[in-house]
Amino acid sequence: MYVKIEPDYDALSQRAARVVADLVRRKPNAVLGLATGSTPEGLYAHLIRIARDEKLDFSRVTTFNLDEYEGLPASHPESYRSFMQRNLFDALGLTNDQTNLLSGMSSDPATECANFEAKIRRAGGIDLQILGIGSDGHIAFCEPGSSLAGRTSLVALHPQTIADNARFFDKEDDVPRKAMTMGVGTILEARSCLILAKGSAKADVWAKMIEGPVSSQLPASALQLHPWVIAISDTVAASKLKHGDYYKHMDRELADQPVLPHWVFQPELDPRAAMLASR
Ligand code: PGA
Repeated sequence: MYVKIEPDYDALSQRAARVVADLVRRKPNAVLGLATGSTPEGLYAHLIRIARDEKLDFSRVTTFNLDEYEGLPASHPESYRSFMQRNLFDALGLTNDQTNLLSGMSSDPATECANFEAKIRRAGGIDLQILGIGSDGHIAFCEPGSSLAGRTSLVALHPQTIADNARFFDKEDDVPRKAMTMGVGTILEARSCLILAKGSAKADVWAKMIEGPVSSQLPASALQLHPWVIAISDTVAASKLKHGDYYKHMDRELADQPVLPHWVFQPELDPRAAMLASR
């Protein structure tokens, strides 16, 4: 993992946006995996600014979102489709054809999830997957106990996640109980991952993700098995890391190296290409 520690939320957001912007500049038909939640909002705001200032063209980009609440229509203000329209898609002029989210209103979640996986494969796979981390260690909505080989499926949200997300709804009872989400196995197939964390509420879980054992009890720890994960946090979220000074040293020493792996641009060189092609 490339662990990077920035002084504050704005700095981490700016750095993360730069990773995405540089990818789109070098690969205008990039496939982006996107996340919702409060953490990536700053990344999206900076990306919109960079796109405007540097005339970045997003017209050939394809996006896939990690997850969607079950039972919320796309038009609901707290659906993840609405979140993405508000925070990114409208400003970048991304069309419905370019942007893929699971439908929370599907009457057949298993087929909806299987079709979503097939679409990712048809798009050629995800080049860069953006992620946040839940205070219970989830990525996407893969809650503790999720299979680390799991595929996109319908899941029941952990009570901790329902409590955490209650702030977006009038009351906790309004938070959906279920969601459709990419599985950890789906996420691990992305060519590169960019996971972000801010604030003291994430300090424990961030240290466990990076330095703890790989365990389905903390699904984010499965990212230790991925060949290219960039993990950017602010100083507060990084405060429980044992090797924080080493990560800062590594960041300085490798400052002249590419931020993304060469196989994002030449997928046939992905060290996992044979395994992925057989899927
Ligand atoms: P947050 O959520 O960014 O709102 O903290 C992260 C997540 O649950 O993945």
